Amino acid sequence: MKNIIIINGPNLNLLGKREPNIYGNVSFDEFLKKLRKLYSNIIIDYYQSNIEGEIIDKLQEVGFSYSGIVLNAAAYTHTSVGIADAISAIDSPVIEVHISNIHKREEIRHKSLISKSVYGIICGFGLKSYEMAVHTFITNE
Ligand code: DQA
Repeated sequence: MKNIIIINGPNLNLLGKREPNIYGNVSFDEFLKKLRKLYSNIIIDYYQSNIEGEIIDKLQEVGFSYSGIVLNAAAYTHTSVGIADAISAIDSPVIEVHISNIHKREEIRHKSLISKSVYGIICGFGLKSYEMAVHTFITNE
């Protein structure tokens, strides 16, 4: 059975409450329940942290055994050489996702330090970005 993990970075624990005009008003727990129902034939694990080092620890922990990692590094996308290096160091493919279209927003969000290390990028489709990433892992080989 395929195992996929979704890793969310800082402030994404506040989804549903946080800037709903940008990120919507659905909590991640609510969304995850639906996603797991939709893809009941695979394991979808979930991890969220507001701490950069904990995200790196998690990538190292799962990165040699999981079929795929869906990563929304949130603000660390734009700042973290450490997360980019961790992605390069592991075997599991990583899809970078963003809820919002980062290229439509402030200039600081246009640059992703992690993109060069990932398998692909999906952004701007709301929570559907995660679903598209999971779908990609399931339908790939
Ligand atoms: C985000 C975009 C980032 O710029 C921001 O810091 C986030 C969320 C997104 O999902 O749209 O926290 O990754």
